[in-house]
Amino acid sequence: MFGLFSTKGFKDYVKAARQVLKANWTGAYTRPSPGLYPHQWNWDSGFIAIGLAHYDQKRARQELTSLFDHQWPNGMLPHIVFNPNVLGHYFPEPDFWQAPEGRLTSGITMPPLHATACWHIYENARKGDTGKDFLNLMYPKLMALHRYLYRERDPDRSGLVYIRHPWESGLDNSPAWDEPLKQIRADKKTLPVYERKDLKHGVPADQRPGDGDYDRYVYLVDLFRRMGYREADIRKECPFMVRDVLFNSILCRANRDLLMIGDLLKQDTAEVREWVEATSSAISDRLWCAECKQFESFDAVNGRLIHSATAAGFLPLFAGAASRDQAQILFKTLDSIAFCALHQGNCFTVPNYDMTREDFDSRNYWRGPVWININWMVSKGLKRYGYTEKADAMNRDMIQLPIRFGFHEYFDSRTGKGYGSDGFSWTAALFLDLVYEYYSEDKHGRDWFKPHKRDRLKAMKVLNSLDDGSMAASDAPAADMMAAINHLKERFYDVHRGRVDYETIRHSPDYGEYQKIAAGLRRFNLASLSSDEEKTAFWINLYNALVIHGIVDLRIASSVKEVSNFFKKIGYGIGDFVFSPDAVEHGILRANSRPPYKVFAFFKRKDPRIEFSLQKLDPRIHFALVCGSRSCAPIRFYEAEKMSEQLNMAAKNFVNSSEVIVLPEKDKVFLSQIFDWYKRDFGGKEGIRRFLLRYLDKDEKWDFIDRNWSTIKVEYLFYDWDLNH
Ligand code: GLC
Repeated sequence: MFGLFSTKGFKDYVKAARQVLKANWTGAYTRPSPGLYPHQWNWDSGFIAIGLAHYDQKRARQELTSLFDHQWPNGMLPHIVFNPNVLGHYFPEPDFWQAPEGRLTSGITMPPLHATACWHIYENARKGDTGKDFLNLMYPKLMALHRYLYRERDPDRSGLVYIRHPWESGLDNSPAWDEPLKQIRADKKTLPVYERKDLKHGVPADQRPGDGDYDRYVYLVDLFRRMGYREADIRKECPFMVRDVLFNSILCRANRDLLMIGDLLKQDTAEVREWVEATSSAISDRLWCAECKQFESFDAVNGRLIHSATAAGFLPLFAGAASRDQAQILFKTLDSIAFCALHQGNCFTVPNYDMTREDFDSRNYWRGPVWININWMVSKGLKRYGYTEKADAMNRDMIQLPIRFGFHEYFDSRTGKGYGSDGFSWTAALFLDLVYEYYSEDKHGRDWFKPHKRDRLKAMKVLNSLDDGSMAASDAPAADMMAAINHLKERFYDVHRGRVDYETIRHSPDYGEYQKIAAGLRRFNLASLSSDEEKTAFWINLYNALVIHGIVDLRIASSVKEVSNFFKKIGYGIGDFVFSPDAVEHGILRANSRPPYKVFAFFKRKDPRIEFSLQKLDPRIHFALVCGSRSCAPIRFYEAEKMSEQLNMAAKNFVNSSEVIVLPEKDKVFLSQIFDWYKRDFGGKEGIRRFLLRYLDKDEKWDFIDRNWSTIKVEYLFYDWDLNH
């Protein structure tokens, strides 16, 4: 593998996204959008701070501190903080809410994303600023919020807190609320008189909640204010009380982040630990409907689960609350026509509601469109459980939707068209987070220029030199090694942190076993590989096992860049020869080609290893080689009999992931740098076109490439060298 970082591909869009956040910045907080939402919203600020954290720590912190300045004395964090200078454009405002002591806030809360946002801010603090002061300031406020939730919203200590208004879920008119809202007989005659203002900002009524919904929203607010916001009284009367799967999942995730903050600040975190455990297991046990194969919210008034299929049901992945089996089932649903399958085409992942339901509506607010915040959380959740391909496909959609259709509030799940408010803050903020996370040079560049001296290898290290003779030569050592590697990955996968714990692998007896298998490789007879398929499978598996072995052996913490020339400096001995990853890739799999930016073929003419080179270069191998960084293929075991099918799948997955972004409206295509480095392997620009057309999903983007290739501007995406833990 060859590492070079260039590309400024997303510069213009990063600028545009920052501009959205700047235009919505009021001096103390960021409005969700200029017209429709002029005040400060609770979870919006959490998402916004996550985006800001990458380039303006000060504003990110202020976003949250201004919100928490309005925390109620009982710890509740209101869902809206009103700006007294812009009253009159929104309903309901403080005159309607009548919050205690004349507070300029609403009287309900929202999903508590804030500990997660604080941890993210801390993780992105620049050098010279540990970010600890900020955490010290926020910790007691976050604790007060979580204590409020467990004390007031979970009085019977079930581990699941209840919401008492659809607005508290953040998904106002979600189909999941249809049934519980039926409990409310909102009689116009007894309802307070009110006027909707949300329809006065140019958004068509069919993209917003209906009047019937609004009557019920108002009914509930009226109840709360009549009860003086005393939770014990509200609880007795309230016809809408739901243990919402989304709210509890975000709380569960926030507990985990709060725990990390508390531990870092050396606080006594016993209470937080209990919350983590209680909510995580309650979600997994009590919000899971086995027959429906999905997570659901629990209607606490009627005492039953609400069988509605919304994207909220995927949030236990973000929480790390789903078991492995549950995650597997969720993945299957996510990857089906219900939620826009991988390679389905003509849809965007993931719509907020099951697309096969009769009342699915690709335009109406929380009843079918794609929302970036939900997708962002689901994608993180999928990554946590190892479903990288689907997560990447989602990331690609989250990046392309705003670029193609604007920074809208939500997007049509079939056409991508943007709806609701334009210039919407969290769309811009999370777009920025994704771009900084996956494609930014700045972020990684900082560390790369500081080589980790301790691990610099002067000479090549042969990783299978320990040959204790106890291991008989196996017929298929590469296969055994891959099986062993997969076993190690499986065993040492840390569900909570969503990564492979390479450090623990190093100390495990399983690793000792693995080393023995690798040692057996020394006696393997390469001449026993006959067909091209057998050879290709062997060398791909060998390459992948070697790279992972190298990462573990050399104690690489976050990037293979920590060891200069990593791909040259490690190797496996087989027979009389040693093969580095570069030798396997360029010398053998690429049919002895020259590495990018080099003048000569990898093996010199007299190199005896040349006899093992494949005769024909198949560019699909680029998508099967795991290179120990996030942009590369997920690790998979290749079999000679299934070779072509597997390589097709690898190519298809890659081409339809966030490594290929087609923007017909901009006459532009962003391609992974792999297509730049190995242009010749694909047959030049025209070859790349053919390759893309072969593997891309057939939709309007396929047509666009087919027709306009000669005039399309191609830019290359930054290559992310962070470890794919
Ligand atoms: C709507 C959304 C909610 C969001 C708010 C401000 O009420 O349903 O999730 O926080 O607008 O953007």
